[in-house]
Amino acid sequence: MSRIETLLSKMSLAEKLGQLTMTAASYAVTGPVIAGDSTQSIRDGTIGNLLNMVGADHVREMQRLALEESRLGIPLLIGFDVIHGHRTLFPIPLAEACSFDPRLWALTARESAKEAAADGLAMTFAPMLDVSRDPRWGRSAEGPGEDPWLGARIAEAKVHGFQGHDLAAPQALAAVAKHFCAYGPVTAGREYASVDISERTLREVHLPPFAAALAAGAAAVMPAFTDLAGVPMTANVALLRGWLREQHGFEGVIVSDYNAIAELMHHGIAADLAQAATLALKAGVDIDMMSDAYRRGLPVALTRGWVSVAEIDGAVRRVLALKERLGLFADPFARGASAEAPEAITARRELARTVAARAIVLLKNDKSVLPLTSVGLRLAVVGPLADASADMRGPWWGAAGPKGHVTVLEGLRGMLGESGVSHARGVDIDGEDTSGMAAALDLCGLADAIVLCVGEAATMSGEAASRAHLGLPGAQREFAEAVFERCKALHKPVIVVLFSGRPLVVPWLVEKADAVLAAWFLGSEAGNAIGDVLLGHVSPSGRTAVTWARAEGQIPIFFGQRPTGRPADPKDHYTSKYLDVPNEPLFPFGFGLTYGKFTHSNLRVPQGGVARTDTLAIRVDVTNAGARAAEDTVFLFTHDKLASVARPVLELKAFGKIGLKPGETGTVTLLLPAAELRFLGLDLSPTFEAGEVEILVGPCADRRQLLVASIQLSSG
Ligand code: NOJ
Repeated sequence: MSRIETLLSKMSLAEKLGQLTMTAASYAVTGPVIAGDSTQSIRDGTIGNLLNMVGADHVREMQRLALEESRLGIPLLIGFDVIHGHRTLFPIPLAEACSFDPRLWALTARESAKEAAADGLAMTFAPMLDVSRDPRWGRSAEGPGEDPWLGARIAEAKVHGFQGHDLAAPQALAAVAKHFCAYGPVTAGREYASVDISERTLREVHLPPFAAALAAGAAAVMPAFTDLAGVPMTANVALLRGWLREQHGFEGVIVSDYNAIAELMHHGIAADLAQAATLALKAGVDIDMMSDAYRRGLPVALTRGWVSVAEIDGAVRRVLALKERLGLFADPFARGASAEAPEAITARRELARTVAARAIVLLKNDKSVLPLTSVGLRLAVVGPLADASADMRGPWWGAAGPKGHVTVLEGLRGMLGESGVSHARGVDIDGEDTSGMAAALDLCGLADAIVLCVGEAATMSGEAASRAHLGLPGAQREFAEAVFERCKALHKPVIVVLFSGRPLVVPWLVEKADAVLAAWFLGSEAGNAIGDVLLGHVSPSGRTAVTWARAEGQIPIFFGQRPTGRPADPKDHYTSKYLDVPNEPLFPFGFGLTYGKFTHSNLRVPQGGVARTDTLAIRVDVTNAGARAAEDTVFLFTHDKLASVARPVLELKAFGKIGLKPGETGTVTLLLPAAELRFLGLDLSPTFEAGEVEILVGPCADRRQLLVASIQLSSG
């Protein structure tokens, strides 16, 4: 008999339910705490999994309890939210998406896994794969942005990065693809609210990143808190049992979100814990995170005849199988056995700096005010985010404390010296106190340029952080307006460094600033990376992975919209537009300036009929007509002009990068498997229709800036 079957044959019901229970160790708690002290339960074998336990010593002690003091000695599975780093923080996922660099996406996950595994952890509740087209939703910060194809590429890179080639390796973490699925379109962008989208949007937009995570071998999946058209994901038989397990053959573990099983009662589909537990188990949820619904509800459900022991055993088998795959039976102490070498930690910080610089999106650079290269440069670094170490972390900071994350002030002082950089906070991130403004304004006169650091606090995005107003909080606008006014009179340039977990709606700020950097939240090396870009040590290359609205009323806003029967026409009243704002966003998806000046030409697509098995090589020439070396990112979109179902006006299918010196020209080759041109037909099954498909290549999702050619799909 296998180890798992042997164990199962010996387990009591309470021990089985223990393997299906995950309890928080009171750290980074994101919901009601109901578990209390877990140590006795671990000894009793009635808690088999922990979350939020940090520190190799603690983990070792808990593991020892499970192994030496519980009857069956089954190792614990210990998970944590390692979202964008563990102790060393990389940019938040939305920022990292903007690097459009699959190698780095995987590398930061690998490094996060190593660091977390060195702390004894074996599972991360990541990657978060919720496509978000509504920046009011705070969790936009944690995900891949607005595009499903991009989300799929990030999903596979992250799963490979976290898990490596061998899940049993002591540096590997089990990845949990979350939140399955369609959590992003919560009604009105309000956290945890109901979701109601079409079956087509579900399949075309929200499922592809999960399909990619499964194809990459994700060990686990977490259902979303939300319901989809009345069926909470935690009890969604069609999607969990159907799509995930049956259609995709997923044999890994499904772990509920925090208290989500008990919340089925609030959703109004379960009368008590026994019913909630029954619904979740029947849908395929294996591990109950923090509801205690399985331990308390399933024994009742058994006596009522609602569930069978065989169903419970099925879930226990999957949990034990994951523990086996993770090597926990072979050596439960392998993770966290030894501290990391200092060089590994230093190298990780260097990686964090590289990635952070590549995640910055330069939104504006009037008269090439950046980079700031003059000798003897004096800067005034002002604003509430200029020296805000804790906020540099952004939402989800893992086990990283508030200190030690390089601020803009620290970064620039490190590069220019103490005397070259003056600083005043001006105002707080939030609140109405303006008493510090005058001191900050006084610094403007003494500086060559002003670096104005404004935006959101780290806690204003992430979980439970929806916002209805997407401008600058508190008195920051008043402060920024005063800085612009003073600097206009002084003829001093103002460079805005904008921190946020979402694309803010700040057209006035962009209008008045000389330069704007979207810095998102860049993690532990934020200030150094920002300094690198401001001073020209690095030419910015990030491209926004989300569309920036010019008014909240444009939300949801995204490039992959379907055409309308009445395209906007300023001369025709009865066309698709607003009376008070243009349809166009402030910045389209893919937008981002560099210190070069790129032009695209000579788009080449294959001639003749394209068969569904072909992979097309599409080429475009890129010239750097600017005065500085830089890296360009080229996007490939398609548009199926005539199909049985209206296709989006642009669909992202590939991107490529090229670094060019001033005056240099190079060619970018973009590969497009024709299979990517399939779409869901009228009956929602994948179809491949013959006919013309436009290939659009260029700098961003603005059709006017794209080169266009056509290919012909043949019917064969
Ligand atoms: C709730 C969040 O929705 C989820 O993403 C996270 O993994 C769990 N809490 C555990 O912290």
